[in-house]
Amino acid sequence: MRLLEPVQLAAATARNRVLFGPHETNLGRRREVTGRHVAYYLARARGGAGTIVVETASVHPSDWPYERAPLASAAADGWAAVARACHDEGALVLASLGHAGSQGSSAYSQLPLWAPSRVPDVATREVPKSMEPEDIDAVVAGFAEATRLAVAAGCDGVEVNAGQHSLVRQFLSGLTNHRQDEYGADRLRFAREVLQAVRGDAAGAVVGLRLSCDELAPWAGITPDAAGQILAELSGYVDYVAVVRGSIYTVSATRPDSHTAPGFNLDLTRQVRAALPAGVAVVVQGSIVEVAMAEGAVAGGVADLVEMTRAQIADPDLVGKVQSGSPEQVRPCVLCNQTCQVRDGRNPVVSCIGEPSSGHETEDEPVAGTAALPQRVLVVGAGPAGLEAARVAALRGHRVRVVDRAPQPGGAVLAAAAGSGRDRLARLVEWLRAECVRLGVRLEVGAEAGDGDLAAHDGPVLLCTGSRDGRRDYAVDDGADVRTARAALTEPQALPPGPVVIWDPIGGPIGISLAELLAPQRSVTLVTQDLIVGTQLARSGDLADASTRLLQAGVVLHKRAKLRQVTATGVVVEDAYTGEKREIDAAVVVDAGQRLPEDTLWRTHPELPRAGDAVAPRTVYEAVLEGRRAALALDGGVS
Ligand SMILES: Cc1cc2nc3c(=O)[nH]c(=O)nc-3n(C[C@H](O)[C@H](O)[C@H](O)COP(=O)(O)O)c2cc1C
Repeated sequence: MRLLEPVQLAAATARNRVLFGPHETNLGRRREVTGRHVAYYLARARGGAGTIVVETASVHPSDWPYERAPLASAAADGWAAVARACHDEGALVLASLGHAGSQGSSAYSQLPLWAPSRVPDVATREVPKSMEPEDIDAVVAGFAEATRLAVAAGCDGVEVNAGQHSLVRQFLSGLTNHRQDEYGADRLRFAREVLQAVRGDAAGAVVGLRLSCDELAPWAGITPDAAGQILAELSGYVDYVAVVRGSIYTVSATRPDSHTAPGFNLDLTRQVRAALPAGVAVVVQGSIVEVAMAEGAVAGGVADLVEMTRAQIADPDLVGKVQSGSPEQVRPCVLCNQTCQVRDGRNPVVSCIGEPSSGHETEDEPVAGTAALPQRVLVVGAGPAGLEAARVAALRGHRVRVVDRAPQPGGAVLAAAAGSGRDRLARLVEWLRAECVRLGVRLEVGAEAGDGDLAAHDGPVLLCTGSRDGRRDYAVDDGADVRTARAALTEPQALPPGPVVIWDPIGGPIGISLAELLAPQRSVTLVTQDLIVGTQLARSGDLADASTRLLQAGVVLHKRAKLRQVTATGVVVEDAYTGEKREIDAAVVVDAGQRLPEDTLWRTHPELPRAGDAVAPRTVYEAVLEGRRAALALDGGVS
């Protein structure tokens, strides 16, 4: 397999061509690279990654883009610890160096943002300060000093960030560089000075460049052709180029979710590579989450290395599993962006819905290991909580039986996966099922476990019974047709003809993806009490794109409206602010609101442990996490 062959980067040799890209983790403290970072990267190095690029560190204190962003001058000890740990496992370690410029935040630094020109940031609306010559010199010197520190700390080299969130890109781009001086007349000048300084201080170590090669804003931004010209000038300073895309206007395009097809940068990378001299290696990335696609990119000459970032957040052992001939055992990244997208006000630690130990390596009990006392375990419910509980229990040597009354495993995830653009979610269920089968779990679907089964079972029982329909806090007239989102997603063809109203008091992916699913065929109105539809999608980065898709699909958005009554011919909604009432025609109403725990068995057996929606209906992440904890607790490990 070409993907597993070594590749030369300057004087260093990466043992294979799989790279773990730089990304925000929120594992930092006091702007340092911490022990939690070390454990996070070590898990990927141990799992076989060839090259690890550490989370971007700011090269100058004028840059503090998010609270837990590392600062190069505070990162040396952490870099050294990461390098030691990952080198012991055979991986290369590169330090990503950057400055977010106008895409940063003044909230932490309490200083004005630095940028080439006074172009307000699209997201924060903040007007930055146009950098003065001494500011420019200070940042260039910061890149040089950070390079010295990283190399002295034992890193194999550095990667300069000129990607989506970067000052270097802001200087290269006509969108953000309106300067009248020599840095505007020659927009490459700043990048050239940075790379010259970095190369000069790298002492023969690897120098990489992460470059936005298509800002998706052709009126003034970097286009693929322009990227070729930029690289023709700058490639002499670098050993590799990581091709990325996106600009201030298209943040979500940089690391989109499952609504964008995997491998979206393959053509761009092919084009950029053609403009590069042979000695410069090329890294392709962009939702490459399948080994076959990664192998195809290398074997097909698109790139020399493949960045698989989210794929290795989902499975730190991805490379090792491929090496040992079991690629089917790789836990899939389903491109949901639900818990690996961490740039939000809550400062969550990076994690994964399928692998909740990601980001929590120092705290979570390892799943691997053997139970001191193997037992017969009965798991009731084959949703994500039940399947993960069964998988982990079986892995640890228990004999496990899973019973679910539904005809197939998957629980609520199967319905969620039926939503528009969400079908990849089913891959996680399929993986859990396949792993259970491989580990000898007895899976009985279409079979209901009752009190009798529980009484007859000799061993621990875990209740992973999922959720049931939620409460309706609106009146339902005789003859009104109200269904749950779960039913509508599972059997959209069973909905009666005529206009559909979706009541979405949550603003998450369920109501939105259902509206998208139904809209091509019929009239759909989405009703929410919020001022913006899909508010919760901001966390996964899909909010703006979802609004675009809904409007383009012709979904009527009825905002700031509370559902009060469903009649035989429609709904009555009430303006959340003015109290004004209004009727909307509907042949059927779909309720995409909160659900309640399915706790029938638990009510008669309150002594039994529960996990996931059976405790409180939430997301796949909590279901998998709690299913895993329940299985580990069988050994007394976690309570
Ligand atoms: C949690 C997260 C945060 C990210 N933050 C950054 C960042 O700060 N700088 C950067 O250059 N790329 C960042 N990225 C982009 C990744 O480096 C990578 O290029 C991107 O995830 C695409 O690769 P993938 O599709 O294999 O995940 C981030 C990605 C993730 C998953």
